[in-house]
Amino acid sequence: MKTESIKDKILSRRTFAIISHPDAGKTTLTEQLLLFGGVIRDAGTVKGKKSGKFATSDWMEIEKQRGISVTSSVMQFNYKNRNINILDTPGHQDFSEDTYRTLTAVDSAVMVIDSTKGIEDQTIKLFQVCKKRGIPIFTFMNKLDRVGKDPLELLAELEEVLGIESYPMNWPIGMGKEFVGVYDRFYNRIEQVRVDEKDRYIPLDDNGKADENAPIVESSLYAQCLEEIELLSEAGNEFSKEKIQRGELTPVFFGSGLANFGVQTFLDTYIELAPSPQPRHSSEGDIDPTEAPFSGFIFKIQANMNPAHRDRIAFLRICSGRFERGMNVSIARTGKQVKLSQSTQFMADDRNTVDEAVAGDIIGLYDPGTYQIGDTLVDGKDLFQYDRLPQFTPELYIKVTAKNVLKQKQFQKGLSQLVQEGAIQLFRSVQLEEYILGAVGQLQFEVFEHRMKGEYNVDIIIQPIGSKIARWVDGEVSENLSNSRSLLVRDRYEKKAFLFENEFALRWFQEKNPEVKLFNPMEV
Ligand code: G4P
Repeated sequence: MKTESIKDKILSRRTFAIISHPDAGKTTLTEQLLLFGGVIRDAGTVKGKKSGKFATSDWMEIEKQRGISVTSSVMQFNYKNRNINILDTPGHQDFSEDTYRTLTAVDSAVMVIDSTKGIEDQTIKLFQVCKKRGIPIFTFMNKLDRVGKDPLELLAELEEVLGIESYPMNWPIGMGKEFVGVYDRFYNRIEQVRVDEKDRYIPLDDNGKADENAPIVESSLYAQCLEEIELLSEAGNEFSKEKIQRGELTPVFFGSGLANFGVQTFLDTYIELAPSPQPRHSSEGDIDPTEAPFSGFIFKIQANMNPAHRDRIAFLRICSGRFERGMNVSIARTGKQVKLSQSTQFMADDRNTVDEAVAGDIIGLYDPGTYQIGDTLVDGKDLFQYDRLPQFTPELYIKVTAKNVLKQKQFQKGLSQLVQEGAIQLFRSVQLEEYILGAVGQLQFEVFEHRMKGEYNVDIIIQPIGSKIARWVDGEVSENLSNSRSLLVRDRYEKKAFLFENEFALRWFQEKNPEVKLFNPMEV
């Protein structure tokens, strides 16, 4: 293959994470996108949880039992000569650190918002991570087929709550039963609901008006829309592709995933505005995706994706060059060479062996226990390490012990392997050496218990200790400062941290011990 064509392939990649609060319509929208990409033929394929067909990541008992997706999955499709990689993020409230980490492996994010509810909790958390990384965010205001919040109010909420400028790419004409269509500011046309493709679009003249003979001109909803458009043009933000690409301005699309309205326009615009794979910072400076040989990093490790294969899969984001199955690469952390002979790519329902992939793609590598989250893989002698993945702060904690003391060895093994996968964090209390686990969501503890029993044959005793505020210590600290309200622990890298009972305990501690420097890794 010529270098030129590898470069073209890389430049055709668009890799994004789809984020939302549960029930905003992320799965429905993903499914429509996959339909446009020709990857699936029927609606309901991804959403097997309700239709009774297969689901994307319906691989773990617990998922089946609870009908939710615990893991993040990856889907790839081709659309208008672009190769699009969608990284799904667990939609349940009990999301995990994996959800956050997925956001480190993408070049942009699509945020789905339920227009009847506005901005919800989980969206805020995920958005903050995207914003901190400066990745472009595209907003899809969903469920316009239902009567929702006033669009201007939604826009104000978006800007206020999330602290980002917005630019509505289109504007709704009516809502709910009276939803007529959208005024498309980007393509300068009106897109009508429930109208055949050949008559769906009404072009707008240079003044942004429809032809006076078009029936829509008679509608009071159209008149109201024009007024609001005028308001937006005068008082709203200006469109700027540069600002979008720097993550400073979010383009907003109104539509309905369920009614498949506005989804294709969204996709057409997304591929124009979203960036191709970007250079990534490493110990050797920025690595250019098209110039450098193969490199990538592991952002997720997942066990037992398919009960038929009791193995682990390490998810690798390719950051530069081309991957070829069977190639030899080095792990920068250890300098060890590995042959990448078992590699997987993910489709809506399946995993297929992948022989070739390029920067921007996500592949799954068979992992016999070789990899750690954050590992950089490099082709060539000049090893470098991509910047460390951000550390996330758990919010919920449990103490854990093996029920049967004779099972100590399996307990330790299970604990260390499951912690390595990164969904839970392990701490030891400094004074009593108790095992404490921290997670971002409660579900991770259930998954942990379930897997300890299922995979390591160990029954465990869990003692919930509730939500805590974790702050790491910068420098040295006396063990005498540890008590039940401010418990001193060591993380698995031997770094000390305090688990505070609540905000009050944290403030009290800081006042009493101003010399102890504390930090929250998510804010560094
Ligand atoms: P999620 O992945 O973000 O959790 O959301 P999901 O797509 O599963 O959608 C949540 C619910 O919202 C579903 O209804 C879905 O049909 C509905 N929904 C999604 N997009 C739209 C939309 O544009 N308009 C309207 N009116 N509803 C939408 P459900 O009753 O929970 O499931 P189902 O029985 O319809 O499958």
